[in-house]
Amino acid sequence: MFRNFKTVNRFVFGRGCFNQLDDILAPQRTADCPDMVFVVDDVFKGQSLQERVPLRADDLLLWVNVDNEPKTAYVDRLTTEVRKAMTERRRALPAGVIGIGGGSAMDLAKAISLMLTNPGSSADYQGWDLIRHPAVYHAAVPTLSGTGAEVSRTTVLTGPEKKLGINSDYTVFDQVVLDPELIAGAPREQRFYTGMDCYIHCVESLTGTYLNAFSQAYGEKSLALCQEVFLQDTTPDSDDKLMMASYFGGMSIAYSQVGVAHAMSYGLSFVLGVHHGIGNSIVFDYLDDFYPEGVAEFRQMLDKQGIALPRGLTANITDDRLETMVNVALMLNPLWENALGKDWQQIMTRDRIRDLYRRM
Ligand SMILES: [Fe+2]
Repeated sequence: MFRNFKTVNRFVFGRGCFNQLDDILAPQRTADCPDMVFVVDDVFKGQSLQERVPLRADDLLLWVNVDNEPKTAYVDRLTTEVRKAMTERRRALPAGVIGIGGGSAMDLAKAISLMLTNPGSSADYQGWDLIRHPAVYHAAVPTLSGTGAEVSRTTVLTGPEKKLGINSDYTVFDQVVLDPELIAGAPREQRFYTGMDCYIHCVESLTGTYLNAFSQAYGEKSLALCQEVFLQDTTPDSDDKLMMASYFGGMSIAYSQVGVAHAMSYGLSFVLGVHHGIGNSIVFDYLDDFYPEGVAEFRQMLDKQGIALPRGLTANITDDRLETMVNVALMLNPLWENALGKDWQQIMTRDRIRDLYRRM
């Protein structure tokens, strides 16, 4: 069976297009549900972006902290907060949930919009197609590029037992606002590691067994844009290119899959709380056996951008925690199958994964 997959309904792209957000949201506000919820990364508190959020009368500005990647408990707490605010306004639901920030802030906005219309805890929905009811209208304004969260059908959450996304057609954003000016202020290392998430999406998609012409078309363009951005000198339109690389990289994996770096990065993240982009980069540096060309080029990018990868993460790790890391990585069947084929368990044994982790 071929997947009949859902994409974002509307995109706006261009420098300064964030100024159109109020106009874009206006038709979503109805008499019964007039209020928007803006889910904004709290690094922007007191920054110029705060003043530009188009808040109307009873809109809710929800500052979110993403020092740690989103947890299901945090999503549940934020959803309760939104419900309470809507009850105070005598509204059943908000008109929409707008995520402003990087991958984590966008994922929180997706998760809240889903949990406002689906009962229980977000942990109940970690998996594939478990969501039953359509989400509240939700839109994204990325301020970092690379994760592809703006186009993906998942919101990646760490729950009590696993790190796994809520994957569903309802997860996909209704609207995305791509304004390259908004990613200009990102810290240098964060920009790099988030960009490497995109680069690794491309390598894993383009070398995977799930590859097809659809994924290849997007993946090759995204890869070429990453090479321009990270191997050549910065130009005035580098941010425009990075933003489009992220979008195309996300579209590439939407119809294929990621691979070894992502599977192992999930383990690092679950046990040590390492963020996605940096976790992927740390893992990728040990994957010469699987992605020789990609890893060689990645090292050129590290060099060109003057980035030193963290080392020795697992030096003092207990055996128990290491086993948990291996378990989390091994849970991600489709990623391994894409990377190594149907017989992946013969290639990637527990011992081999454990050995790789020990080197990091
Ligand atoms: Fe990723």
